[in-house]
Amino acid sequence: MLKKLEHLEGAIQEKIDGIKDLASLNDLRVKVLGRKGEITLLLKEIKHLTPEERVHTGRLANEIKTNLEKLLEVKKQDLEQEEINIRLLEEKIDITLPGLPYINGRKHPLTRITEEIKEIFLAMSFSIAEGPEIEWDYYNFEALNVPKDHPARDMQDTLYISEDILLRTHTSPVQVRMMEKTAPQLPLKIIVPGRVYRRDDDATHSPMFHQVEGLLIDEHINFGHLKSMLLHFAQHVFGEEVKVRYRPSFFPFTEPSAEMDISCVNCKGSGCRVCSQTGWLEILGAGMVHPQVLEYGGYDPKKVNGFAFGMGIERIAMLKYGINDLRLFFDNDHRFLAQI
Ligand code: DAH
Repeated sequence: MLKKLEHLEGAIQEKIDGIKDLASLNDLRVKVLGRKGEITLLLKEIKHLTPEERVHTGRLANEIKTNLEKLLEVKKQDLEQEEINIRLLEEKIDITLPGLPYINGRKHPLTRITEEIKEIFLAMSFSIAEGPEIEWDYYNFEALNVPKDHPARDMQDTLYISEDILLRTHTSPVQVRMMEKTAPQLPLKIIVPGRVYRRDDDATHSPMFHQVEGLLIDEHINFGHLKSMLLHFAQHVFGEEVKVRYRPSFFPFTEPSAEMDISCVNCKGSGCRVCSQTGWLEILGAGMVHPQVLEYGGYDPKKVNGFAFGMGIERIAMLKYGINDLRLFFDNDHRFLAQI
């Protein structure tokens, strides 16, 4: 029995020495010290020995067991350390390599312009309003004084979803939506930035683009109020020296209606390619809110009046930054976006 034990100890020690990985080491541990392990089984046999032998053999057997446990543990730690060393070697990073350039994100030019326009009108105590992009024909046209079959509908190439539902072609429908919510309270002073949709696609038109609508309703509002606010707006966006002019125009929801031009941002008014030699650039439509629209919105046109305006944000951005193709805004090309 003693011999057996000593022989086994020697054999196991050799095996431990030869082991190269943690899994095999664990297998060996089970084989030796597990419930049916070689040492465990031998220890069980001790009870068959004579009492004298038992004391001596028992002590030795326990010593051997403890010794083997220690050896296994030491080996385990060695193997673990080895594994860590290998991993560290494999994962070594060459810190002398040049890093990848980090490209900083920035706001999209359309977002920047929209925020700038919002700031200007917020400072004049306008609020920001929103409306749905999928709109009723009623708000997009009828409540704006454009009945079905009215020729003015041809001015805008509409994307219909059903007979009564469409993708809004302008931000003007929010005028009546907000009047309905606010009337008869005064004043109503809002700007409405948002996406609009038309069946259009070329260098200066995209099927989706952005507009900002403005609406002010109060008592005794006149065209002078409109002009002073829009001049302030134009000077803020295009610089103090910019000039503005108004040309009579037609919109079904305003009367009188006008279009506002600014002096050409490129040639300052002397005439160039950008302004088709006219010295002027059209930037928005505006006018005094039509009495019929006030009535649709729930206001009494005999007591209140107001002005409205609407502009395309892409157009403002193109003029301000000198961009000649509107589609660049939507290509998501960093080389373009980073320049502005
Ligand atoms: N909704 C018009 C368009 O999309 C722009 C416009 C013109 C808005 C005159 C107005 C306005 O509020 O008074 O072409």
